[in-house]
Amino acid sequence: MRRFVVVGHKAASSGNFKLEDMAGGAGRLDILIRCINSAFFLSHSIRKDAEIYLVMLGGEDAPKTVRIVGSEVKYLNPDERSTGALVRNALMMDVEDREMRSSPGIYVSRDSFYDVINRLSARSKIVYLRENGVDVQKAEFPEDVTFVLSDNQDLTSQEDDTLCSLNPAICSLGPYSYHADHCIIIINNELDRRGV
Ligand SMILES: C[S@@+](CC[C@H](N)C(=O)[O-])C[C@H]1O[C@@H](n2cnc3c(N)ncnc32)[C@H](O)[C@@H]1O
Repeated sequence: MRRFVVVGHKAASSGNFKLEDMAGGAGRLDILIRCINSAFFLSHSIRKDAEIYLVMLGGEDAPKTVRIVGSEVKYLNPDERSTGALVRNALMMDVEDREMRSSPGIYVSRDSFYDVINRLSARSKIVYLRENGVDVQKAEFPEDVTFVLSDNQDLTSQEDDTLCSLNPAICSLGPYSYHADHCIIIINNELDRRGV
């Protein structure tokens, strides 16, 4: 299982936004939507061994986490608008203390970044993707691995501290700062080549 956790620092945590305005009023939700596409889409199929957690920290209803499971997801299409609609449906749900399913393979909860990474660290190797980490090509990954990355800004120092307290591997993907969705494609390719 390859998993991605992406923090959307201003991403809408309620469904109260227009699909035409995902890059504006929805707090750069467009970045997270592209991350979904990068995590799951192959040319003619969906990666069933992938899962993504989108941590939404924008707006008054934050935090919320939308989780998408490749082996279950339905109605996912490559265009950003329809993926945005699926995420918006999840964010429109009246979620309380338990994770809820909004459509096949799409779940929403009130989990914070801390909740998500703490829970995952009990069962998966955590890898923090950071520009100044060690070369990813020199790192080894087990079958169950979780990559944590940020949106268009770095993790805050508090998020960084929380994540580092779990002793993650810290990996760099190359000499430049890449878009989050491109990082996911690089990782998927790296794992594909290794047959993980
Ligand atoms: C667009 S970057 C974040 C903004 C960027 N750090 C800046 O302020 O210019 C999105 C995220 O992708 C990941 N990332 C980008 N480039 C990377 C690299 N070369 N190695 C590892 N992770 C990278 C990091 O998690 C980063 O927070």
